[in-house]
Amino acid sequence: MQRVVVLGSTGSIGVNTLDVLSHMDVEVVALSCNRNVELLRKQVEQFKPEYVCIGENADREYLKDLPVKVLIGSDGLVELCNLENVDVVVNGLVGSAGLLPSYTALKNKKTLALANKESLVIAGNILTKLSKKVKKEIVPVDSEHSAIYQCLEGRKKEDIERIILTASGGPFFGKDSFEGITVKDALAHPNWNMGKKITIDSATMMNKGFEIIEAYWLFDFGGDKISVVIHPESIIHSAVEFIDGSIIAQLADHDMRIPIAYALSKPRRIKLSNRILLDELSKLTFKKANFKKFPTLAYAYKAVENIDRNLGLVLNVADECAVEYFLEGKIDFVDIFDILRRSMEIFENNQSSDIFAIMDEIERLKREIVELINKDYVRV
Ligand SMILES: NC(=O)c1ccc[n+]([C@@H]2O[C@H](COP(=O)([O-])OP(=O)(O)OC[C@H]3O[C@@H](n4cnc5c(N)ncnc54)[C@H](OP(=O)(O)O)[C@@H]3O)[C@@H](O)[C@H]2O)c1
Repeated sequence: MQRVVVLGSTGSIGVNTLDVLSHMDVEVVALSCNRNVELLRKQVEQFKPEYVCIGENADREYLKDLPVKVLIGSDGLVELCNLENVDVVVNGLVGSAGLLPSYTALKNKKTLALANKESLVIAGNILTKLSKKVKKEIVPVDSEHSAIYQCLEGRKKEDIERIILTASGGPFFGKDSFEGITVKDALAHPNWNMGKKITIDSATMMNKGFEIIEAYWLFDFGGDKISVVIHPESIIHSAVEFIDGSIIAQLADHDMRIPIAYALSKPRRIKLSNRILLDELSKLTFKKANFKKFPTLAYAYKAVENIDRNLGLVLNVADECAVEYFLEGKIDFVDIFDILRRSMEIFENNQSSDIFAIMDEIERLKREIVELINKDYVRV
């Protein structure tokens, strides 16, 4: 029986993962949340893990009558990834908090089912090298990368012309101007129900930008071989074009349980109830991505073209800071684009192949970018 740790079990990916796991013959060894101990408590009662990790020691009280070992903070997450006899770590954490757990899981030769794309955006070089070294795969959970992974299975690299990431375009693709966009507007994604950070990233299309960088690391194709096409229905989750002009795509309902289930069961499939009925789909539409309106895509290609400068790290930290300020109502939606552009211009990233130096770098950049935002963008 597989023994699984679910990091970020109270989030959108985490809840969907537990739903999938409840249909599988697996042992859930550990769960984690940041502050949502109320939901974590219910999950502990249902899945009876041996361990949980929570964000704050003060919340320990809430779980004290349950027969579960409680760990705290980022050290606790790392400890979960160090546990012996764990086979799979599902990383559904959001942001740079996911990096060290991804690294630790791989280092301990666990299969890493990775939703936390930020891990690869920040430190793709380190993680992909480590994955090769320990001969443990990074299995994508992101629906686009799961689709490409499935389309690439058994193919020869030289037969591939390019990989095609589809994008819904988010709530503002057809909008003429970004002026006056509220937090509520930006959180209203047309197709997917996700955590707040990725929902805002979908509205700015930085999420698609991060997926370009993620695809670069996962599939080892340069920026010229990765393209983005807008597909508002989110039925085709991504595709691969071959040198003979054939395109193979993966289609499914927009339900994250499908790619999560594949990551946990591949190459077999788990029976799920969601179906798309091709004869009931009236049409599938495609549009060109608009780089002028969504410069976040261009920022991602720049990061891929200058991969040695690890601009993904700067982009990721700047985005985490900017999105947090936007969600708190302190800056405008349009400011996010400007903060990202300027951060890429201003901030140098001290290159390192040491994960702990990268963690220090994240903290240093956070301080500097927050200072920039406070000085030039925060509304008075
Ligand atoms: N949601 C999707 O459909 C989807 C699709 C593809 C990829 N992804 C990727 O999957 C990851 C998770 O996304 P999500 O939408 O599931 O996010 P989410 O709903 O915000 O959930 C994040 C999870 O991480 C926990 N967490 C947040 N900050 C933390 C911290 N500093 N330390 C430890 N734990 C922390 C949260 O705990 P609390 O609940 O206590 O806050 C929650 O369990 C992201 O990288 C996202 O880009 C998501």
